[in-house]
Amino acid sequence: MSARPNAAATTTPSDDPACAAPLPVLGREVTVPLVTGGEVTYAALDYAASAPALQRVWDDVAAYAPYYGSVHRGAGYLSQLSTDLFENSRRTVAEFLGCRPGDQVVFTRSTTDSLNLLAAVVPAECEVFVFETEHHASLLPWRDARVTYLNAPRTPGEAVATLERALAGRGSEGPALVCVTGASNVTGELWPVRELAAAAHDGGARIVLDAAQLAPHHPVDIAELDVDWVAFSGHKLYAPFGSGVLAGRADWLQDAEPYLAGGGASRKVARRADGGVDVDWHTTAARHEAGSPNVIGVYAIASACKALTDAGFEALVAREQRLVARVREGLAGVPEVKVLSLFGEDAPRVGVLSFVVEGWNSSHFAAALSAEYGIGVRDGLFCAHPLVRTLLDSDPQEPGECGAPEAEPGERSLNAIRVSFGAGTPDEHVDRFVRAVRELVTDGARWNYRTEDGRCVPDRG
Ligand code: ALA
Repeated sequence: MSARPNAAATTTPSDDPACAAPLPVLGREVTVPLVTGGEVTYAALDYAASAPALQRVWDDVAAYAPYYGSVHRGAGYLSQLSTDLFENSRRTVAEFLGCRPGDQVVFTRSTTDSLNLLAAVVPAECEVFVFETEHHASLLPWRDARVTYLNAPRTPGEAVATLERALAGRGSEGPALVCVTGASNVTGELWPVRELAAAAHDGGARIVLDAAQLAPHHPVDIAELDVDWVAFSGHKLYAPFGSGVLAGRADWLQDAEPYLAGGGASRKVARRADGGVDVDWHTTAARHEAGSPNVIGVYAIASACKALTDAGFEALVAREQRLVARVREGLAGVPEVKVLSLFGEDAPRVGVLSFVVEGWNSSHFAAALSAEYGIGVRDGLFCAHPLVRTLLDSDPQEPGECGAPEAEPGERSLNAIRVSFGAGTPDEHVDRFVRAVRELVTDGARWNYRTEDGRCVPDRG
């Protein structure tokens, strides 16, 4: 079957860290207009929200698209091929994550969906422990469980000690779960996952790792980290086709009711004599994958996993760390800029940094970066309101909309600016960013801005 799509076919391996170049991504040649005139290549520096698709992912998806067919339902050749592709993708993801024998890989829509799935299957009476500093996807799904929100730690050691104390103070011996991020979507700081996993297990709890911001930047090995589950999204892993992953221990997943009831999750359905319906649910990952699976999204994730592995993930990490150092050094030279950090200025982090600029509203600053320099960043509270409030030392109770400016241009900022980058980022993008920050702080914006529909935009009035 020579026409069968082959994810390995478009690989360009490079194991020499010194040679690591940005991986080709879609949109790398897109130009955008500047409000001051002319055009410039778009600098996508908002990877933490959604990373551009890897060219290889796009090519693999395009090669497969003509062969698209239904998964797990269909006798035709393309249905068989698509089913194989889907299940092979599951194996690829399991390998990428270093899954243990018996672990399940469930395909979902996103990290948020994965953590909501886990929240739906935790045993009755499960106690959940989550730091208040988590992204809302980790913070909010546990509303039906007994949740303890842990205070923001100011060092990795304090995070471990806080968890140990909380677990030691548990009132029962029943099931417990800890949910923790691997890398913050706000500060990019790495959390002490291995130590937290050990503390969780010593305290009789299980642990789920929110790897949404870690997996695109760093190898994640579920067995080596000794976490029970890992969740991540395709759209942050260079595979923006609507799929996500929850991987890990099978027992809680198998013992619970299906997340969604429907075809695909059920093995056998029969009418009962009393008029009701008996259902025999699958005990494999399919139990929580009811409905026609998103084979393109899943194949895209598998393709991205292979691309990162084939490129030499360690070399990509080394290259990204070089960019992190460049941004940190550049921003350190601008006294008006304050980089936000929970664990201290020098804490290790992935390519995600948030900051505020003295005298600037963050939305205004981000709008000027876009309109005058063609740089796309994100401003706001980044769906981690309690964390950003803590970092800004503002009222943690105060509500804020994701991304909404809270002040007119020129007023004091109550939100932050985030720059984030990864495997596809050329040096020129971060250099342009650092130069733009310096120029805006020194010379001010060259254009007037106003707030329109909740966004700060150039005033073309
Ligand atoms: N979680 C994504 C972000 O931080 C959407 O921007």
